Amino acid sequence: MSAKHVVLTGASSGIGRALALRYARERARLTLLGRDAARLQAAADECRAQGAAEVAVSCVDVQDRAGMAQAIGAAFAAEPIDVLVANAGVATGLSPGQILESPDSVRAALAINVAGVFNTIEPALLPMTGRGSGTIAVVGSMAGVRGLPYSPAYCASKAAVHCYAESLRGVMARHGVGVSLIVPGFVKTPMSQRTKSWQPGLMEASEFAEIVWRGLERRKAVIAAPLYIYYALRLFSLLPPRLVDWGMNRFTAEVPETAEREAAQ
Ligand SMILES: NC(=O)c1ccc[n+]([C@@H]2O[C@H](COP(=O)([O-])OP(=O)(O)OC[C@H]3O[C@@H](n4cnc5c(N)ncnc54)[C@H](OP(=O)(O)O)[C@@H]3O)[C@@H](O)[C@H]2O)c1
Repeated sequence: MSAKHVVLTGASSGIGRALALRYARERARLTLLGRDAARLQAAADECRAQGAAEVAVSCVDVQDRAGMAQAIGAAFAAEPIDVLVANAGVATGLSPGQILESPDSVRAALAINVAGVFNTIEPALLPMTGRGSGTIAVVGSMAGVRGLPYSPAYCASKAAVHCYAESLRGVMARHGVGVSLIVPGFVKTPMSQRTKSWQPGLMEASEFAEIVWRGLERRKAVIAAPLYIYYALRLFSLLPPRLVDWGMNRFTAEVPETAEREAAQ
């Protein structure tokens, strides 16, 4: 059997990098997408050392629709994509006492976390359904399950991609393509390290990548970890909203604004 071709955005850091390394151990063929050339190259070297069959890298901003279409098209032309992971994302939020999120940060987070996911997945939809196989994975967040008072725009961006993945799953099921929604809790990465808050269930990125890899192999519809946080948040959305808001306001969190800015098209 030939090596699986796995394509990941946000492969230069954190969860994307850890998942690339997990697939490298399966001797997969990898296409790693990100913006920081040096960190992407370092991730590629590590994947080769772990046993990846072949590793290609592509520096592209997920906000660049044409650039993403070109990168995904080139990856597919090199070898049909078996697993496509739309993982790149940024966090943004509020510090204690802050009311207004910077409108520029809000728009950048939406452009990267939502439009970036569309830009990643759209170019692959027809080639994948044409083959009638493969898996698309969307990285959401526990913050997309129930809105949190620490990061309104980030929660909104993740809720949007949760709904997108759920809808797409139904469409793609008719064409033999799986869609998995990945729902991380706190995973030790540069992103979570910037957030100052209680981080229940904090996991190593490699531990989370193992859970995701296993879930993708089984084509699970939702791959969430830790599960107790996922179910607690789902329960919260069934409870009286003001009660949950009150409970959440007992905790403080500092989620720095992203320094990212929406790219001009
Ligand atoms: N860590 C957590 O606790 C946690 C929890 C819930 C959800 N998540 C989600 O998991 C995903 C990965 O996060 P992480 O924790 O691994 O964060 P991370 O270590 O900060 O990595 C983020 C990755 O996204 C890429 N990226 C960001 N903006 C991009 C852009 N405009 N174009 C292309 N690539 C871009 C970065 O690439 P460059 O550095 O090369 O630009 C980097 O590889 C995100 O979607 C995040 O929302 C994480």
